[in-house]
Amino acid sequence: MSTDHNNAAKGDFAKTVLMPGDPLRAKYIAEKFLTDARQVNSVRNMLGYTGNYNGKEISVMGSGMGMPSIGIYSYELFSVYDVDTIIRVGTCGGYNENVKVRDVILAQAACTNSNYISQYKLNGHFAPIADFETLLKAKTVAEKMGIKVVVGNILSTDMFYNDDSEAWKQWASMGVLGVEMEAAALYMNAAKLHKKALAINTVSDHFIIKGTDTTPEEREKSFDDMIMIALESVILQ
Ligand code: HPA
Repeated sequence: MSTDHNNAAKGDFAKTVLMPGDPLRAKYIAEKFLTDARQVNSVRNMLGYTGNYNGKEISVMGSGMGMPSIGIYSYELFSVYDVDTIIRVGTCGGYNENVKVRDVILAQAACTNSNYISQYKLNGHFAPIADFETLLKAKTVAEKMGIKVVVGNILSTDMFYNDDSEAWKQWASMGVLGVEMEAAALYMNAAKLHKKALAINTVSDHFIIKGTDTTPEEREKSFDDMIMIALESVILQ
């Protein structure tokens, strides 16, 4: 069985899927970190792979950018392919001086300005949150590996280019640590389908601390650190 967006067969995906935004990052992760990786999805070049990490089967697939995109792919992974856990591995912009470029944020929760939530017809404001056990495992392995992580709230925005260039400051004033475009929809799908999700984001740019551009090597190293946190957390007993 396949879907309009995924030509993998049922059983092709592992119970846990890592999701970078960029499908070429999915390919990079499969080739660098997994053994016996095979490609399972090719539709729209949203590459998906399944392989092994330290004897455990793990999948990796691109999510695309934004909540409509990750909304589709994560919904199908959870509901059609029986995936239990999705760990987003992405980047975010920094909103807080205590979080620097290349630091890793474990998104305990994800605020949003998106309309995705309206489908559930809730009489109030839903709080999209990470799965606690998945979050705790990621924090535990990061500490063991000596990689600095910050746990807290992020914003999943619909607007990368916001006409109101000051809008971010209101979120920052509420202690929101950074901004990306996917976690809230992933967390809502997981909540609705009784599944587990976590977003891990490396800070790639900063709204306050300027002039901290990173070299390609530094970016690769911090991306690899984030992947190692995700992979090691999956095999942690
Ligand atoms: N805004 C939205 N999404 C992002 C950003 C940003 O500044 N950086 C990385 N993902």
